Amino acid sequence: MNIIVKQDYIQMSKCAAEHIAELIKKKPNCVIGFATGGTPIGTYRELIRMHKEGLDFSGVTAFNLDEYYGLGIDLTKPYSQDQSYTRFMYEELFKHINIKKENIHIPDGTTKNPEQFCKEYEEAIKEAGGIDLQLLGIGGDGHWAFNEPGSPLDSRTRIEKLSEQTLEDNYEAFYKGAGFTREQMPKYAITMGIGTILDVRSILMIANGYKKARVVAEALEGPITNQITASAIQMYKGEATVILDEEAASMLGRLKRSDSVS
Ligand code: F6R
Repeated sequence: MNIIVKQDYIQMSKCAAEHIAELIKKKPNCVIGFATGGTPIGTYRELIRMHKEGLDFSGVTAFNLDEYYGLGIDLTKPYSQDQSYTRFMYEELFKHINIKKENIHIPDGTTKNPEQFCKEYEEAIKEAGGIDLQLLGIGGDGHWAFNEPGSPLDSRTRIEKLSEQTLEDNYEAFYKGAGFTREQMPKYAITMGIGTILDVRSILMIANGYKKARVVAEALEGPITNQITASAIQMYKGEATVILDEEAASMLGRLKRSDSVS
């Protein structure tokens, strides 16, 4: 596992975008797993800037980690009132770059048959040749995607009930400002499983801020446990890169022994 610590959120985002851009340049028809949330917004802004300078997404295939169950893009509502992850991805990245619509895959939160949909999502990933690079944040409860505490570490794409902490975190970060009550938030999501994520060829995990420091240290250095599903990174066999800002890295023990801060 390669841990890179950058001074602040902006530097973390630039470094993550460079890592993604490097793959696209090396393999123009690569398959990238994207994440939503506050953490990757800076990375996406940087990718958009790089696209304006020529970074070509026309061969890239995208698979997103998750979507709230019950939500899909709703163009009748302004972005502030449409909390779907599909809308987030279009607004924050996809509509600004030249990725082909047919190459974008996001779990369909409006499906009437979630079980069948989840099977097909796994199949679609396989048919695309697997994911070359999966971008991941980490939840306050240690989740990867919406694999909440207790999720099996070999889980596949499925419906998952959101934890109280995730509901609280996402309410504060996204729903509250748009005038939603907590009761109006979706309580379930369709999410790739930890097993699905561990099948990818490389992982890029990003985190910033003091509020993530403890959970980052637990995931990277604590025991591997399904109570902190991001701790599965320690059993990952592929190439894992973790880019943190100094605040998120502040509780890591190993950094006191290494010079990997840049
Ligand atoms: C988003 C996702 C989540 C987030 C995590 C952190 O697609 O899968 O696991 O990465 O909840 O969210 P932020 O970045 O908002 O702190």
